[in-house]
Amino acid sequence: MRRKLVAGNWKLNLGPAAAAKLARQVALGVPGLDRPPEVLVCPPYVSIPAVAAVLKDSAVRLGAQNCAVEDAGAFTGEVSAPMLAEAGATHVIVAHSERRTHQRETDDDFVRKIDRAHAAGLTAVFCYGERLEERRAGRERDVVRAQLAAVLPRLASPAPANLVLAYEPVWAIGTGETATPEQAQEIHAFSRGIVGELLGNDAAARMRILYGGSMKPDNAVELMRQPDIDGGLIGGASLKAEDFLAIVRGAI
Ligand code: 13P
Repeated sequence: MRRKLVAGNWKLNLGPAAAAKLARQVALGVPGLDRPPEVLVCPPYVSIPAVAAVLKDSAVRLGAQNCAVEDAGAFTGEVSAPMLAEAGATHVIVAHSERRTHQRETDDDFVRKIDRAHAAGLTAVFCYGERLEERRAGRERDVVRAQLAAVLPRLASPAPANLVLAYEPVWAIGTGETATPEQAQEIHAFSRGIVGELLGNDAAARMRILYGGSMKPDNAVELMRQPDIDGGLIGGASLKAEDFLAIVRGAI
């Protein structure tokens, strides 16, 4: 049985003080739950030490939103996976559509980043998903297959223990438009089949696949009730403790 994972991607929001405050609220809200899912928050780099201090003795895990393709060297402005691990992170998001678009990151970058993350002992959360025009053209399955096939088989050590997938249809991110539970389940089941082809059936059965894209308290339960949806990667609604904890409570 796959344990659900509810992850907050805080994106470019919350400096150290505000991030520590939200992390404290989340950490206080989780232990009261009966069967809590795994819970993860991903602040901006600069807020990681402050959040790590707050979460030190809590069940809430800490992730970064990106890492460098190298561990160290002349790469101005970069932050590496070993540094993130030293700062207290256990996870790192890779290949978010915003980085695919704004930073023009490529499949080669994702392979290198995930391998660096694994070597540092981090779990990678690998994002993929089609754009609006691709869905309109009926190409979502082709896009999903291509994005997964371009990365997963090239990784040095891909395994359900160190890799989580996050299906994030780009047209649903920050738009208020969510994939219906049926639309999401269809692609999740399809993705699991691809993982089976690429990494084997055992890995496919154990790999967690999160849904991301306008997940809110009022749609989270239905989405996460689908058999192949193993949790959520939440942007906007993760910035309010009350909303994020409501989604956490819905992850059964
Ligand atoms: P929203 O929940 O704001 O749509 O963002 C989803 C997302 O991109 C999470 O990584």
